[in-house]
Amino acid sequence: MFIRNCWYVAAWDHEVPSEGFLSRTITGTSLIFWRDAQGEVIALEDRCCHRGAKLSKGRQEDGGNCVRCMYHGLVFDRTGRCVGAPAQSRIPPQARVRAYPVVQQHRWTWIWMGEPEKADPSLIPDTRWLDHSEWRSLPGYLHYDVNYLLIADTH
Ligand code: FES
Repeated sequence: MFIRNCWYVAAWDHEVPSEGFLSRTITGTSLIFWRDAQGEVIALEDRCCHRGAKLSKGRQEDGGNCVRCMYHGLVFDRTGRCVGAPAQSRIPPQARVRAYPVVQQHRWTWIWMGEPEKADPSLIPDTRWLDHSEWRSLPGYLHYDVNYLLIADTH
């Protein structure tokens, strides 16, 4: 069980590619991340709504605005809406994958895994020292083989 209505750090800024995808699991959900042509980060669930294939095995299209599932070819835009299906002119509106609010701030990409309408960027903790010219920081990870509650710091 996870807390979903909160911001999670999803990646360092340099980890999210403009070609290909970053795959990551957050709160038990498989996700893909990539950048569009403007450098904005897009996050979708890594599971096609058709037969469950991994979108991370697909490819970017439309200048990075869409991802094509390589199983049967459905195309999803940044909102998760299916905008293309081979040999099919009518696309049912329920054909979509879940998209997640993301914010890039001070070298981190944050993601909101809960109810999208509650995703308030002002709730993101202040980490300005990560890209402050008078501070030095190094990107990296510490992996803990413990329950996440044992390493959660409060502010
Ligand atoms: S599983 Fe993705 S298009 Fe069929």
